[in-house]
Amino acid sequence: MKITLSLIKADIGAVGGHTKPSKKLLEGVKEFIAKKGKGLFVDHRVFFTGDDISLLFSHKRGVEDKKIHKLAFEAFKHGTKIAKSQGLYGAGQDILKDSFSGNVKGMGPAVAEIEFKERENESVIVFTMDKTEPGAFNLPLYLAFADPMYSPGLLLSPPLMKGFTFEIIDTEYLKAEKIVRLNAPEDLYDIAALLRETRRYVIKSIWSREYPKEQAVAVSITRLKHIAGRYVGKDDPVAIVRAQKIFPATEEIGGVFRVAHYVGGDTRGSHNQPLMPVKLNSPASVHYCIPIVQGAAFSIKNGVMTEFVDMFDEPFWEYIREKASLKSILMRDQGFTEPSMLPYDELEYGGIVERLKRLEKRFKIEK
Ligand code: 13P
Ligand code: MG
Ligand code: MG
Repeated sequence: MKITLSLIKADIGAVGGHTKPSKKLLEGVKEFIAKKGKGLFVDHRVFFTGDDISLLFSHKRGVEDKKIHKLAFEAFKHGTKIAKSQGLYGAGQDILKDSFSGNVKGMGPAVAEIEFKERENESVIVFTMDKTEPGAFNLPLYLAFADPMYSPGLLLSPPLMKGFTFEIIDTEYLKAEKIVRLNAPEDLYDIAALLRETRRYVIKSIWSREYPKEQAVAVSITRLKHIAGRYVGKDDPVAIVRAQKIFPATEEIGGVFRVAHYVGGDTRGSHNQPLMPVKLNSPASVHYCIPIVQGAAFSIKNGVMTEFVDMFDEPFWEYIREKASLKSILMRDQGFTEPSMLPYDELEYGGIVERLKRLEKRFKIEK
């Protein structure tokens, strides 16, 4: 049976800053979906990551389905009303367009979708990030799907040995989707050369080469600043990853997050900070706002999802959170100097840009 998973996430308001949605807001969104979504999907989950609410649907309607997207959009609009009524911060922040035009992509929310024929033991992971950008997935996905130093299955498991195809997007090109397909391992250095440019080139999807119709990964590739033309919060990406058998194992995909690599984002979207793996439904940190990632693993049969395994909620990850805290402090100690604060052309706020323009007039050329 073919099943589609649609993961749609948006920031529609948070308590006392960019922290987490209020209980009332979360309940309101849940009630709306239960009421209005009857008959549309097989199963669903609602949860949050920092100040973003995620909606996960399993259904039989295929990707980019108008009704599923509309349900998510309407739920976020309904939630925005609740957020406004409570005076929540950034109410409706990620709802950048008023009227729905058939697809929630390009309207603010982050969207990742994947359609597949369910395997007998279908294992899926959803990752949700807050306070960072889609390029934050570049390194972990490269390590899990292309690097045998991190992902031993690439050497040990026959169906993985041919490697994977990476679809990489150039997010600077706005008129259409500009995409390149590269194969690991032969194109490894080309893949690496693109993925190091995390603000421009981002992984959109990854496919099995042994079974070319089998999609392993879907990542949201929205860049809010391109939609809005100004800073309106970080993109806060999501990804759906299929695991086990013909794909890397859940522990290989989860394991790479121990790097807690530095990503663009954090306070005012203007810093390099480590990506800290946290438990499901965690608020954003007020040590500035360190970028966070949550991982939920589950099994699915006929579209019905089991309970989630909270991937980063066991003792090992306490140590990684300490490591990420230390990396965060070490970088933060550097205050406003690069690479702690992002370089000029990556700054999301107008302050420095305007200040430097003003100062330019005061410079004198002296002999
Ligand atoms: P969000 O994108 O999560 O709303 O964060 C915005 C921000 O600038 C926090 O400092
Ligand atoms: Mg916010
Ligand atoms: Mg957010």
